[in-house]
Amino acid sequence: MASPSDAKATSPRSPKNEKTASPEPASGPAPLLDAEAATAAGILPASHWADVPEDDNDDDGASTIGSIASSTASLTSTIFQYREHHGRTYHGDIGNAEGWEPNDNRHLDSMDIAHHCFTICTGGKLFLSPLDKKKVQKVVDIGTGTGMWAIDFADEFPHAEVIGTDITPIQPKWVPPNLKFELDDCNQEWTWPENTFDFINMRMLVGVIQDWYAIFREAYRCCKPGAYVESMGSSCHFISDDGSITPDSASALAQWGKIWIEGGKAFGRTFDVYSEDVQRKGMEEAGFVDIEFKDMVIPVGVWHPDKDAAERGWWWKVTLEADLEGYLNYICQSLLGWKPEETNAYCAHVRKEWNDPKNHGYVMARVAWGRKPE
Ligand SMILES: C[S@@+](CC[C@H](N)C(=O)[O-])C[C@H]1O[C@@H](n2cnc3c(N)ncnc32)[C@H](O)[C@@H]1O
Repeated sequence: MASPSDAKATSPRSPKNEKTASPEPASGPAPLLDAEAATAAGILPASHWADVPEDDNDDDGASTIGSIASSTASLTSTIFQYREHHGRTYHGDIGNAEGWEPNDNRHLDSMDIAHHCFTICTGGKLFLSPLDKKKVQKVVDIGTGTGMWAIDFADEFPHAEVIGTDITPIQPKWVPPNLKFELDDCNQEWTWPENTFDFINMRMLVGVIQDWYAIFREAYRCCKPGAYVESMGSSCHFISDDGSITPDSASALAQWGKIWIEGGKAFGRTFDVYSEDVQRKGMEEAGFVDIEFKDMVIPVGVWHPDKDAAERGWWWKVTLEADLEGYLNYICQSLLGWKPEETNAYCAHVRKEWNDPKNHGYVMARVAWGRKPE
């Protein structure tokens, strides 16, 4: 399995990746949520975070670790003309698939670490579905990101044909011979014929899927009889059992959930996959059977007495802190109209609270899997 440091060596961290963005307009569009609506939703104004904690140690990012249309698009040069928001780049021109995650090098590093984090969450396994290794011939990883899961899966299943899809070409070129990456918008009708795959993986597509029911219908159609679909998703709310984080407090971590919930409403894609239970409901409605799921606590930081939970919390923190500003930049700008320095100030408060051992917060995550009947 690739460790984050292995992953860095194989990802396409080219200068091109950061230099071909279209110029940002002098003044952006009006925020999706005006000040009145943001207040009504319980979101504090940017000025609330202006007093940046003195000991904020974000050196520029990666400090913490150191320590289309419906058809598949060909990779044309226009694909590399990324959108730019406040100095960060986002994917360019596949249909209307508006991505909220940057696709620049700093964010790709965070995605690579996320792969390690998510596999830690599943006990070091790439999947929890009961796959019969001898029978797995064709597999797709939807929204593959930097492709680390697909690479590891292709290595583990050298006789299977593996496809990784995404809307943005951030995958490495040197990959196992049984793996290929394709540019594809998963929110469009899938182009594969019915009964194509033995396994469909959809990991952490929070804020990506427009209609979870439609996605699982497509997955059902494209699964062979007996094939499995698997999805990992999470909540966006930090909660606690001892009152150290309460939903209506003015803390940065309590505000986090509100920002993502309102962002989800504005963009028409939920960031609270766990609470909305869309994995189970979507699989059930599509016709999958033997649906099982594993829920897990992801602690904020390493306070949790259980060693495995603490390890999950550590890696979740390392993943997000590798590019906290990148995760928040687009949503804070387009939803709330925040300037980069305002988003950065808010991030400093999030980091401070995240690293405060008095905060016993956590988010919930779920891996769900189901089988298409024979
Ligand atoms: C949070 S990342 C998850 C990456 C990967 N699945 C993992 O678990 O490491 C979400 C990915 O979905 C991709 N994405 C966003 N919108 C998409 C769409 N409409 N179709 C396919 N991929 C999309 C993003 O570019 C990003 O790489």
